[in-house]
Amino acid sequence: MATAKSPWWKSAVIYQIYPRSFQDSNGDGIGDLQGITSRLDYLADLGIDAIWLSPVYRSPQDDNGYDISDYCDIDPMFGTLADMDTLIGEARKRNIRIIMDLVLNHSSDEHPWFLEAKKSRDNPFHDYYVWRDGNEDVPPNDMKACFGGSAWTWVPDVQQYYFHQFSVKQPDLNWDNPKVREEIYKIINFWIERGVGGFRLDVIDQIAKEPDLKITNNGPMLHAYIREMNRHTFGGTDLVTVGEAWGANVDNAKIYSDPSGREFSMVFQFEHIGLDQIPGKEKWDLEPLDWMELKKVLSKWQTGLHGCGWNSLFWNNHDLPRIVSRWGDDGKYRVESAKMFATLLHGMQGTPYIYQGEELGMTNAPYDISDYRDIETLHIYRDRLAEGYAEEDVMRSIHAKGRDNARTPMQWDGSKNAGFTVGEPWLKVNPNYLQINAAGECNTADSVFAYYKALIALRKKYPIFAEGDYQLLMGDDPDVFAYKRTWKEQTLYVICNFHAKKLNEVIPEEYRKGTLLISNYAEQGSSLKPYEARIYLEQRN
Ligand code: GLC
Ligand code: CA
Repeated sequence: MATAKSPWWKSAVIYQIYPRSFQDSNGDGIGDLQGITSRLDYLADLGIDAIWLSPVYRSPQDDNGYDISDYCDIDPMFGTLADMDTLIGEARKRNIRIIMDLVLNHSSDEHPWFLEAKKSRDNPFHDYYVWRDGNEDVPPNDMKACFGGSAWTWVPDVQQYYFHQFSVKQPDLNWDNPKVREEIYKIINFWIERGVGGFRLDVIDQIAKEPDLKITNNGPMLHAYIREMNRHTFGGTDLVTVGEAWGANVDNAKIYSDPSGREFSMVFQFEHIGLDQIPGKEKWDLEPLDWMELKKVLSKWQTGLHGCGWNSLFWNNHDLPRIVSRWGDDGKYRVESAKMFATLLHGMQGTPYIYQGEELGMTNAPYDISDYRDIETLHIYRDRLAEGYAEEDVMRSIHAKGRDNARTPMQWDGSKNAGFTVGEPWLKVNPNYLQINAAGECNTADSVFAYYKALIALRKKYPIFAEGDYQLLMGDDPDVFAYKRTWKEQTLYVICNFHAKKLNEVIPEEYRKGTLLISNYAEQGSSLKPYEARIYLEQRN
C-alpha cells in the first residue's frame, strides 16, 4: 500500500504486453486488442496494476508498430478505437490501468505529415522533419541508423536528405519546430481524454538530436522539451510516465524523475543490460556477464536515486532476450533461476516490470534465420555477413541477443500454437510450449507464476518494498548477491545465489533471523543451494 504522500505507481507492478504476440482473437495469426481483453482475468489474478501496451496505432509495421502513421487511431490488425475503449474500461474494472507507448522521436514515412513534407521544401509540413542539403552521393555526415545503413536518406523531389536514427521508414521528427510539439501535445491529450493510465515514452532521450554535431541522445534542449510537454499534457495528473533512455546515467535520471514532477514519474534505463557486451561495441559483440559489475551497477542505481528519483526495475522487454536464457539456466534450473532473478529484482526499490511470459519462465528461441521477423535481426545478419563475419558467429549473437527471443507468441496452454492462435502465427511458437505454459503454471503451487504472484502480493502488503533504503551486503562475494532494505522499524534481507553451484560459504546468521517471506526452496540451510533466493523480514521491537 502506498503511504499518504506516495503516488500509486511507487508500489505498483507493471506488466508489458507486446500485442502482436499476446493473444489472437480472430485467427489471423496476430495478437489483437480483443485478445488482450479476453486475458485480463489472468493478469488480475497475477496481481499487476498496469499494462504497458507496445504500440497499437496505425502503422505500416516496418518496426512492429514503432513506426506510426496515425497516432490517434488503432491499426486494423489490432482492432478499432472501440476495442481500445473496451480494453480500457474492462481493465479499469479490474483496477488495471493501460499505459500507451508513445513513439515521438520519429513517425512512419507513411504518416500524412511526412507524405506532405517530402513533396517540396516550401510545403507547410516540410519542417516537421529534419532535412539537410547535400548532393545525392555525399550525405551530410557519416552517422549510422540503428537498423543498418546511413542515418540520411536522399529525396530527389526536394534535393535534400532526411535524418532517421532508426530505419528509413522512421524519419525523425523535428522537435525544434513548435508546431510539431503542439501536434504531439494534442495526441497525448487525445489519449488522456480516452482514459489511459499513463505513457511510456519511446527513446525519449533522442528527441533533441543535433545531427550536425552528431548528437543523438541528451541534446541540449532535451529537458526543456520534456518540461514543456509535461506542462501541456500529463503534468499535475496522477498518470504514470516512463521515459525510455538508453543514454541515462544516475545524474540525468534524477532530472527525468525528480519527485517535483516536472518531467516523468520514472526513468527506464539500461546500464545493467549492457554488461554482457564488449565495452564500446555493439550488443552483438558478446562477452560473459561480470557478476561483480552487475552488483555494482544495480547497487549504484539503488543508492543514487533513493529519495531523489525513481527507477524502473526490469530484466526483460520486447527488445531483450529472455533472462533465464541470458543470465540464468534455461535447462535444469530454469524454474529456480527464474525465481531467483525475480527475487533479486522485486526486492529492490523502483517499479518492477514483468514482460509477458517472464512470469512463466519463458526462454529464448534459437531459430534459423528464415524464422526471424525482426528488422534489426535481419539487418545485422545481412550487414555482418557483408562485413566478413562467419555465419556461425553472427547466428550465435542473434540467438543470444535477437529481439525475436522475446517476441515469440505467449504460451497459454498445450493446445496447437500454445493457444495463441487458431491460425498461422506471425512468428513461430517456441517448441517448448508443451512444458512451459500458463495453464500448467496456474495449476501448480510452486510454479514460476505462483512465485511472481507472491512477490507482487508482498510489495502490496509491505511498504518497505517501495520505501526502504538499500545497502549492499557481502559486496566482495562473487557468488552471492545480498542486500538489505531498511524502513522505520523493519529490515528486509534479500539473499540470492546467482549461480548453478551449491555454495559453501555460510550466510551470516544476522541476515537470516527474521521471518522468511519467500524462497524458491522448501528448506533453508546456513548456505545457499543452486540459484537459491530468500527474503527475510526483521521487525525491530
Ligand atoms: C525503442 C523500442 C524499440 C524500437 C525503437 C525505435 O527502443 O523499444 O522496439 O525499435 O525504440 O522506435
Ligand atoms: Ca488477430
